Amino acid sequence: MRGKRFAVLAAVIALVSGASTADAIVGGTPARVADTPWVVAITTPDGQLICGGALVAADKVVTAAHCATLKGVMSRNQRPAEQLRVVAGRTDLRVKTDGTEAAVADVWRHPGFREVTKGDDVAVLTLARPLPYRTIALGDAGDEGTVLGWGRTAENTPPAMTLRKVTVPILSDSECVLKEPDYRPGGMLCAGRGGRDACTGDSGGPLVVRGRLAGVVSFGRGCARADEPGVYTRLAHYRSTLGF
Ligand code: ARG
Repeated sequence: MRGKRFAVLAAVIALVSGASTADAIVGGTPARVADTPWVVAITTPDGQLICGGALVAADKVVTAAHCATLKGVMSRNQRPAEQLRVVAGRTDLRVKTDGTEAAVADVWRHPGFREVTKGDDVAVLTLARPLPYRTIALGDAGDEGTVLGWGRTAENTPPAMTLRKVTVPILSDSECVLKEPDYRPGGMLCAGRGGRDACTGDSGGPLVVRGRLAGVVSFGRGCARADEPGVYTRLAHYRSTLGF
């Protein structure tokens, strides 16, 4: 009941402030893979969107550990590599003739990963063959970043399936701790402001700061809610662990 009223209120505020949920990643704009060739989608073999990711070497994709984990109550099992595909060069995932798909040869999940809100939500997929796309280097966080993905444009819509991006402010650890009870300084960062956020389907996707990969979409309470920033895996914390 409270949630519903809040949703109505949020919609009214969005309308009044000129934002539109259809214009929404949430609150963003259309993007083209030609401009960010290292952004990839992770799908099932039959083309269902699972997550986003980023090409960090010709045959390596950084994503979230939960993207490579089987769903289901209490399941912590790794999703078999045969059940994952990496799609590069495809702005609109419905246009199956665009870009390139690669099979996954190996999945490395951070050994500390247990569940999404507990951290260590990072994985590296090794592709069955190298992809001919520009890669992105790892980097540090800053004051703001850009998050990209094919996911939902609002909490209850289907995924956009076309690439979108939004610029989000990166908050300090002390603000993140206040706003997100599961936030743990160190391996996480939080970003976003009411109206601008990643959403379901964007998980594993890149948060880019000054042209480098600073974070991976991990979790959030709803999407783009006031005072509920999105939580990301802070890659600088894991640089020496990732092994590429
Ligand atoms: N865990 C979600 C996924 O699997 C992404 C969550 C991001 N949510 C957010 N509000 N930033 O796609």
